[in-house]
Amino acid sequence: MCGIVGYVGKQKAASIILEGLKRLEYRGYDSAGLCILQGGQLDVAKKAGRVEVLVKEAARHRFNGTTGIGHTRWATHGGVTDANAHPHISSDGKFALIHNGVIENYAQMKTFLAGKGYTFKSETDTEVLCNLIAYHYAKEPSDSNGTSRFLESVRKALEHVEGTYGIAVLCVDFPGEMVAAREASPLLLGVGDGEYIVASDASALINRTQNVVYLKDGELVYVTAAGFTITTLGQADVSPVVDRITWSIADAERGSHAHFMEKEIFEQPVALENTMRGRFSEDGSTANFGGLNLSAPELRQIDRFMFCACGSAWHACLVAEHLIERYARLPVEVDYASEFRYRNSPLDRNTLFFVMSQSGETIDTLAALREAKRKGYRVLAINNVVGSSIAREADGGVYQHVGPEIGVASTKAFTSQLLLGAMLALYIARLRDMSFNDGVQYVNALKGAPDLVRQALGQAAHIQAIAKRYARYADFLFLGRLSLFPIALEGALKLKEISYIHAEGYPAAEMKHGPIALISEKCPSVFFVPKGEIFNKIVSSMQEIKARKGKIIAIVTEGCELPAGLADEVIPIPDCHEAVLPIVATVPVQLLSYYIAVVLKCDVDKPRNLAKSVTVE
Ligand code: G6P
Repeated sequence: MCGIVGYVGKQKAASIILEGLKRLEYRGYDSAGLCILQGGQLDVAKKAGRVEVLVKEAARHRFNGTTGIGHTRWATHGGVTDANAHPHISSDGKFALIHNGVIENYAQMKTFLAGKGYTFKSETDTEVLCNLIAYHYAKEPSDSNGTSRFLESVRKALEHVEGTYGIAVLCVDFPGEMVAAREASPLLLGVGDGEYIVASDASALINRTQNVVYLKDGELVYVTAAGFTITTLGQADVSPVVDRITWSIADAERGSHAHFMEKEIFEQPVALENTMRGRFSEDGSTANFGGLNLSAPELRQIDRFMFCACGSAWHACLVAEHLIERYARLPVEVDYASEFRYRNSPLDRNTLFFVMSQSGETIDTLAALREAKRKGYRVLAINNVVGSSIAREADGGVYQHVGPEIGVASTKAFTSQLLLGAMLALYIARLRDMSFNDGVQYVNALKGAPDLVRQALGQAAHIQAIAKRYARYADFLFLGRLSLFPIALEGALKLKEISYIHAEGYPAAEMKHGPIALISEKCPSVFFVPKGEIFNKIVSSMQEIKARKGKIIAIVTEGCELPAGLADEVIPIPDCHEAVLPIVATVPVQLLSYYIAVVLKCDVDKPRNLAKSVTVE
């Protein structure tokens, strides 16, 4: 949510920053701006709208400087206007600031600063912080105690801040220098060849360096021509650890695909292979999860699981609940992270607490993790982004290893989370009652998931044709049962997110307790119809819809015979093990919502009002 980039080096900063902003645009796209420090001035270009609008605006400036900052905004304080776009300049013209996060006590600071003669051009909390830095700079004796007056002014201002921030600051008196800091908003420093780039995430700098330092909460980095130093708000020195990013620029590019979402849907077989790689025992009967940092005897003590997450990850947790309860026979509770953090949920000593998050930066999930840790629980994470806040703060966990997911609507990260939930259920089940033979069968089923997903993707053209026929409907129901109820929720979410069509996910049989009132020839239903004990029950629910003239799109396991004429459209999926079924069944609803959004000419990768990494409450 909001993307920031800052550059200090020998190259022209503007083009490098604009390139970085394009890659960070998934974090917010209400406005974009950049500021270059050149000729003793802070030269700013900023506009409401996408980065492409900023690129045109920037072309009107003569940006030659080698130090600069840029921002792409997801609006919180203040509307979507040029004035509210970042960077913000202090009213004395000395500082430029970009910010991701929320300054909660900005109103009282603003009153204080207005009393001191500072003025404001925007409605943002960020401009207040920028002026607060200028205020401390004006008070600060020059370069006292051998430390930079610039750095100290930023530090002093941050001491008064309540809220969250990832910031980068320029000062007109310090050409070739930059200060950046973080508190609960992601920030990393790329260490390149004679250049340094700070950014909200690695995709903004991966084309220039794979060497990064992940900043921690309460840390400030001071970049100068001589290098960089990291200190804390409390002035302690920090020894930097330089990590190497394992993915490459190609992973963050769209290639020949029309959208990142399409690319990521079709990458799923490989993504699932990467998630599984090296994670099965040699005897092929269970999963390996060394990263949990828990021994088998410790895991046997666990008698309950709690999962917290947001969005699609929350749906993946619901599937994990189903599989753990079914196979490991242990109770599981799943909560929205945003609810958990404000509830006083009773946990007991033998509860194992999991958070699930693609980005590892979703603030509600991070806050849930912190709340559980505060209560003394061991917290584990299922997470995709290496080095993310959640990965660093958890006591252990499992990386998804699906590479960067850029499309705002989660696809490959979601199915990888489903897979890890299924593997976790297996792992716990094998420590308890599951037999060796059942374990081997389960493992073989999981190993077959990538191929089954390939088969499901083979229906793309058929689903595209269905999407053309159904794109003009204003309401949809998605109906499934057991482990496919969460996939019904996910199908409805995908359609809402990227095509702005109203959709609801419901347990298929529960539909008659309310949503059936919506049914008419104008509201189609998407049914998941798997083989097995509930097949006949689902067929009955379909009959109830058909009797009310509702159109039906049925996602049906191959080999199942539906009564003639019951479904208007049939999308076959391969028959598979229950642990793999949710993964395979997800593919048609991803494709359906994708193709409907394309027909409606929606901005698939950047749906309105959404952002991929939600770092505000
Ligand atoms: C946003 C995204 C969703 C995602 C959710 C949780 O709402 O649009 O696609 O599922 O955040 O994100 P996380 O990174 O925590 O999995």
